[in-house]
Amino acid sequence: MAYMATDSTDIDRMPRGGPDASCLDRLLETDRLEYLDRDDVDDSTKRQVIGALDWTGRFFKNHQRFAAIALDLVADVPDPRILELGAGHGGVSRQLLADHPSAHVTVTDLDPESVARIAAGDLGSHPRAEVRQMDATAIDAADGSYDLVLFALSFHHLPPAQAAQVFAEGTRVADTLLIIDLPRPPAPLHLLRLATMLPAALVLPFAHDGVISSLRSYSPSALRALARHADPSIEVTLRNGLSLPQIVIARRAR
Ligand SMILES: C[S@@+](CC[C@H](N)C(=O)[O-])C[C@H]1O[C@@H](n2cnc3c(N)ncnc32)[C@H](O)[C@@H]1O
Repeated sequence: MAYMATDSTDIDRMPRGGPDASCLDRLLETDRLEYLDRDDVDDSTKRQVIGALDWTGRFFKNHQRFAAIALDLVADVPDPRILELGAGHGGVSRQLLADHPSAHVTVTDLDPESVARIAAGDLGSHPRAEVRQMDATAIDAADGSYDLVLFALSFHHLPPAQAAQVFAEGTRVADTLLIIDLPRPPAPLHLLRLATMLPAALVLPFAHDGVISSLRSYSPSALRALARHADPSIEVTLRNGLSLPQIVIARRAR
């Protein structure tokens, strides 16, 4: 039976395209995992994907763009406390620290190898950074510990029930939760995007994960449904465009 918008007990059956997804959109998703999420993939493949993400983030200035979006949300806070979840390579946290003279950044990821690599680099000894392992679905911090939580290019990794948990946890520990992720285009355009990515996905681990990311990306209506499922008091503002990342700003009504 198709997922219905009223069914709040079985959020995991919601399509990535949202409760109102078209038939074609419902076909454009997968349960297949990215290399980054698999235990049967060797570390060098994962390192290759994370390295490519960092390189593209620097080359296309995504790290700068993401840091600017985050810092804009704490522009009124003198010494903002920022938690980055799913930091991967730490490039966005590094940019946050470079672009704000007094921000404190807690740099985290679920993957212990990524955390160890980040801690062994410059962020490990940065006076305004702390590097820790952390699960975005069960944040190890007291309520209101941060001004902002940032989760960039990672939200689609999580199935709906866990994704909803990120809304609950992020808005519990911070005033504002900022999710930046791949946009989910309307189905015909999505099909076109996938077709252009597929040849590279057969040979490049980064492109392989890119195709799966695209199939697992959440639509605006799915994002609203996830936030509502987490807590109806969570207010969500969405900003997106076809070539822009999907930006989600979530806050609890206080
Ligand atoms: C595609 S990478 C994104 C890296 C980086 N944020 C960026 O902007 O390039 C996704 C990251 O999410 C992390 N991740 C997956 N599930 C997570 C979870 N439940 N909690 C925290 N991080 C998670 C992965 O370990 C991986 O490092």
